[in-house]
Amino acid sequence: MIRQSVRGPKIRLRRLRASEARRALVREHHVMVERLVQPIFIVEDERAAGPIASLPGISRLTVPQAVTYARRLQQMKIRAVMLFGLPAHKDPIASSNYEPQGVVQRTIREIKAAVPELLVCADLCNCEYTDHGHCGLLDARGDVDNDRTVEVLVRTALTYAASGADVIAPSDMMDGRVGAIRDALDEENFLQVAILSYAAKYASAFYGPFREAAGCAPQFGDRRTYQMDPPNVREAMREIELDIREGADVVMIKPALSYLDVIRAARERFDVPIAAFNVSGEYAMLHAAASNGWLDLPRAVDEVLASITRAGADLIVTYFAQEYAERNG
Ligand code: PBG
Ligand code: ZN
Repeated sequence: MIRQSVRGPKIRLRRLRASEARRALVREHHVMVERLVQPIFIVEDERAAGPIASLPGISRLTVPQAVTYARRLQQMKIRAVMLFGLPAHKDPIASSNYEPQGVVQRTIREIKAAVPELLVCADLCNCEYTDHGHCGLLDARGDVDNDRTVEVLVRTALTYAASGADVIAPSDMMDGRVGAIRDALDEENFLQVAILSYAAKYASAFYGPFREAAGCAPQFGDRRTYQMDPPNVREAMREIELDIREGADVVMIKPALSYLDVIRAARERFDVPIAAFNVSGEYAMLHAAASNGWLDLPRAVDEVLASITRAGADLIVTYFAQEYAERNG
């Protein structure tokens, strides 16, 4: 008893924290550059290219600039990109989305020709292509018409696949779209084109900077009739289960940081690869705080990416991918 009080605790967890080598030896999780996906915004109208105020360090690129950027990312060991298109023409039925010469289709072809090993994922939605800014076609009441929207998504997905996309990533949250896209891809013999579904996508305030970047804020109403209600987690499991059953190769949870419990629950329940989208608002928040001198950006980025990894994500779509790869190259 006396010994104990003189020497203090027998078990000292600080022993393994005493140097970087000791910490590295027992580190439980690792963020890997090859599991990060860099989002890229591509404009059809060259005059719309340039920096995005709400996303410091991220720009809207022309098609040739996107190809140059893809080459640079590849040199930094980034393995995958997620493309977001900003078309010159918008209408109520998103017809520029399935245009074979559309901005995303052209970018896919050019990146695959220039940097064939880089994995090209194409975000698939209608909100950048509709003049009303909703993710689908509207019915007479002004709500998004699920089944007509799925038809447009299928049609567009086939043009992305024909252009050479490796992965199609539907982000619209319509019911049944994964199964419909998988059927159509298989029918057209695009057997190797994978589907990464935004399976549990919440109606989140954290998409604010993206909507400014992509000019796709809904002109009326909001997305709550199709995106998920933030307090729900069991419903997320149903969404994920359905997407897996319909043929999704990878399922994504979005946003990441306010939904780490959802990532964890999905990890424990499903054996498919799980992705997380570290969204625009999560990126912008850190930059805003750092630019005020309130936090150390690289350390905060490392901590955020570690937390998403620790929660159970296999891959992370993040605007920090390039920056992280540069620092860890
Ligand atoms: C399009 C789409 C959005 C995001 C990815 N795909 C916006 C939205 O649903 O409003 C968000 C990305 C981000 O905030 O970084 N449906
Ligand atoms: Zn959308």
